[in-house]
Amino acid sequence: MAEIAVIGAGYVGLTLAVGAAHLGHNVSVGEPDEERVCALLAGNCPVFEEGIADLLEEGLTARRLTFMTSNVEAIESAEFVFLALPTPSAPDGSADLSVLHAVVDELAPHLGDRVLVLKSTVPVGTNRDVTARLRTAGCLAPVVSNPEFLREGTALADFMSPDHVVVGGDDPEAVAQVGALFDLGCPVTMTDPMSAELVKYATNAYLATRVMMANSFADLCEVLGADIDAVTTGLGRDHRIGPHFLRPGPGFGGSCFPKDARALLDLADRHGLNSPILAAAVEVNAARQERMADQVMAAVDGVEDPVVALWGLAFKAGTDDTRESPALNIGELIAARGANVQAYDPEAVAGDPIRLCESALDAATGADVLVIATEWPEFTGEDLAEVAKAMRGDLVIDLRNLLDPEAVRTAGLRHRRVGKPEQG
Ligand code: UGA
Repeated sequence: MAEIAVIGAGYVGLTLAVGAAHLGHNVSVGEPDEERVCALLAGNCPVFEEGIADLLEEGLTARRLTFMTSNVEAIESAEFVFLALPTPSAPDGSADLSVLHAVVDELAPHLGDRVLVLKSTVPVGTNRDVTARLRTAGCLAPVVSNPEFLREGTALADFMSPDHVVVGGDDPEAVAQVGALFDLGCPVTMTDPMSAELVKYATNAYLATRVMMANSFADLCEVLGADIDAVTTGLGRDHRIGPHFLRPGPGFGGSCFPKDARALLDLADRHGLNSPILAAAVEVNAARQERMADQVMAAVDGVEDPVVALWGLAFKAGTDDTRESPALNIGELIAARGANVQAYDPEAVAGDPIRLCESALDAATGADVLVIATEWPEFTGEDLAEVAKAMRGDLVIDLRNLLDPEAVRTAGLRHRRVGKPEQG
C-alpha cells in the first residue's frame, strides 16, 4: 500500500482521498480552507455525494485518512502527490491555472523525488510546463497526468469501477507506478503527457456535442411529430453509437462540460485551428436555454404578475451543484423578464431573484406554469392532483421528460415535453 497526498479537498480530491483510503492506502489531504478541514476531521462531509460520508468516517476511524491546512505537511511522508485543484475558466475561456501554479511553486522545494500527479483538468501541455517550472526551481520530481472521469452524483461509484484509467508522462517508471496504484481491473492507457491531457478534454467535448445532437433531434421530433424516445432508442441500439448521453433536456451544464468545451476551443484557437463543431455545440447550448426561457414566457403571455414554479435548480439530479446549471440559468432568465420564480430543489439552493420554497408543492402553489428543470426522481412521487389544485394555471413544461404523461393527464394538467407531441 502506498503513502498518498492529495492537494485540494473539492469533490474530485475528496473522492480520490476517501476512495484511496478505502483501498488501503494512507492518505493525507492538504486543503487551505480551515473550516473545511475542521469539518472533515470531525467526519462532516462538505459535499453531497453518495457514499463519500461513509468512507470519510471509515478512513478517519482506521487512521488511514487525515486532513490539514498545510500542503507542505500533507506531502511529508507521501510517495505520490496528487493535485486536485480548481482550474476555472478565465474570462477569455482559457483555463485559469493560477491556483495550480501557486501550489506547484509552493511544493517545488519539498517534493524531492516524489511523483507529482496532475488530476485536475488542465490544458494540453500543462504536464510539460509544470515539469519545466519544477526544473527551474531545481526540483527533479517526475510529473504524471492521470485525468479523472468521475461524474458528480456518482463520483464514488465511478472512482471504484472506472471504465478505464489514463496515465501519461515522460518518465515511464513513474507512469507505470501510478498505473499500478489503482489496480481496479480495468484497462489502463499508458501514454505521453499530451495525449493523456487531451483524452480528458476530448471525452467531455465529445459527450457535450453528443447531448446537443440528441437535443437537435428532439427539436426535429417536435416539428415533425416524431418521438425522441424511439429515435434515441434506435440510435442507442446501434453498437457503433451506444445508448449513453442521448437524453434530451435543457442542454448541458455543470462545472465541466461548458468549461472544458471553452478551454478546448481556446486551445485550438491558440494553435490557429477552428473547431466549428464544438463551437456550435457551445453556442447552441446557450441559445437553447434562451429558447426554453422564451417558451416559458410565451406560456404566461398576457398574465399579470405571472408566477412560475421551478422544480430543480441543480445542473442535474444527485448533486447540489448549480454551476452553469441550465435550471438556474432558465430561472434567472425568466425572472429577469418579469416572472415571479418559486423554486424547489431537494439539495441545491438559489437566492434573489428566485424565491426558494420548502417543498415542490409550495413552489407550485399559485403558479401559472410548472417547469421541471432537473430530473430528481423524487418529483415523480409528488401527488399531481394536489399540485393541480395548488396551481393557478394548468401547464407543466417538463424539460426533462420526467413525469409520467398519464399521471399528468389524469391530474387535469397539460404536459409539454421535449421531443414529444404536447398532451392535454
Ligand atoms: C462530466 C463527465 O461525464 C465526467 O466523466 C467528468 O469526469 C466530469 O464531467 C468532469 O470533467 O469532472 P458531470 O459534469 O458530473 O461529469 O456531469 P454529466 O453527468 O456528464 O452531465 C453533464 C451535463 O450534461 C449535465 O447538465 C446533464 O444534465 C447533461 N446531460 C447528460 C444531458 O442533458 N443528457 C444526457 O444524456 C447526459
